[in-house]
Amino acid sequence: MLKVRKVKKVRGELRVPSDKSVSHRAVILSAMAEGESVVHDWLISADTLATLRAVRALGTKVQRKGATLRIWGRAMRFQEPSDVLNAQNSGTTARLLMGLLATQPFFSTITGDSSLRKRPMLRVVEPLRQMGAWLDGRERGNKLPVSVRGGTLKGISFFNVKASAQVKSAILLAGLGAEGYTQVEEPVLSRDHTERMLKLFGVEVLTLDTEKGRMVKIEGGQIPKSAEVFCPADPSSAAFFVALALLVDDSEVLLKDVMVNPTRDGFFRKVRQMGGEIYYENLREISGEPIADIRVVGGRKLKGVEVKGEEVPSLIDEIPVLSVLMALAEGRSRVKGASELRVKESDRIRAVVENLRSMGAKVEELEDGFEIEGVSSLKGAFIKTYGDHRIAMAFTVAGLVAEGETVIDNPHCVAVSYPDFYRDLAGITEMSF
Ligand code: S3P
Repeated sequence: MLKVRKVKKVRGELRVPSDKSVSHRAVILSAMAEGESVVHDWLISADTLATLRAVRALGTKVQRKGATLRIWGRAMRFQEPSDVLNAQNSGTTARLLMGLLATQPFFSTITGDSSLRKRPMLRVVEPLRQMGAWLDGRERGNKLPVSVRGGTLKGISFFNVKASAQVKSAILLAGLGAEGYTQVEEPVLSRDHTERMLKLFGVEVLTLDTEKGRMVKIEGGQIPKSAEVFCPADPSSAAFFVALALLVDDSEVLLKDVMVNPTRDGFFRKVRQMGGEIYYENLREISGEPIADIRVVGGRKLKGVEVKGEEVPSLIDEIPVLSVLMALAEGRSRVKGASELRVKESDRIRAVVENLRSMGAKVEELEDGFEIEGVSSLKGAFIKTYGDHRIAMAFTVAGLVAEGETVIDNPHCVAVSYPDFYRDLAGITEMSF
């Protein structure tokens, strides 16, 4: 348990840890590639280490020195693992690995922790079966453990109705080993790191606008070529410091090297719409991803906003911390079309509603989101994280601006994406945790 009290000022410069999505993909693509790849500024966290352990269990040689990885790729030919692969808390590990394993003729099984074993897998299992792989698991393949025996695949044309980047990525990875073309069309473009990184690894990727949205297409039989990848800072981690700085008078924070890919920066855009003062400085690109230094100036009055379904993919992981800003904004806010939040590391709609209410906010739960009527202050409360890293960090921010004491029931779960969160927070708030 951790006790949090109101902070007086938030000032300083910080490079938050590297992007989790990019770090997972850098390991997976390097392992699939031919030759020796180097990954710089890799995120060291429970989730990404689960991916690293899995590719090693498939026979990939990886040398890690701090945050630098040297990976000797298997050129699409892995070894049968001698034990079950454990994705722990990481949906990205489980789902992207299924895509990779579908290309391999051997038997493997993926499991996860108690949270991941509750999450839906059929969204990936079904298209991979359509491509010709054999997959089965609990609840007819919807729940982990899931076993895979892949091999000879054929390309498919898939409509990604939920705009899930994990589903799209799994299919594209499988598509590398399939016969013919594999195409994924989605109503709104979900995070496109896999497409960008495939190009970095020399794979030909076609993207086009369609009547129904966006399409990505690849031809099977391409073996990725080794590459050098620099991972940018994670916008989802930066979001907690942006929110905190916005809520504290006289604060100013500079967040360095943050990825501002338009499929990921919806939170920063939304916050600007609320009246928050936030700038992108020094815009540039690394390893195919746009990055910037983000300057935030606190104390501006925030007003309520709406998040519509089509905006959700670009800020999906930031909704818990966005809800804290909404609770303290003037007027009404609403999030709709976000039912995916129900099947994240926890039921994030329920967790947000329950915790905000216990802090004195006016919140109404919707099936696919929530409505919030802003209040002038929150009061300290006992926060149930449900072991969900983003709930823990979002409500630590809430506790730092609330009156009285807030208790976080399980602060350790931040290790999933941001092991040093409380150390970095101490650095810019001059508080100790
Ligand atoms: C991720 C995609 C998103 C996101 C998750 C990471 C990824 O999930 O919420 O934290 O790395 O591809 P969905 O693809 O299920 O929407």
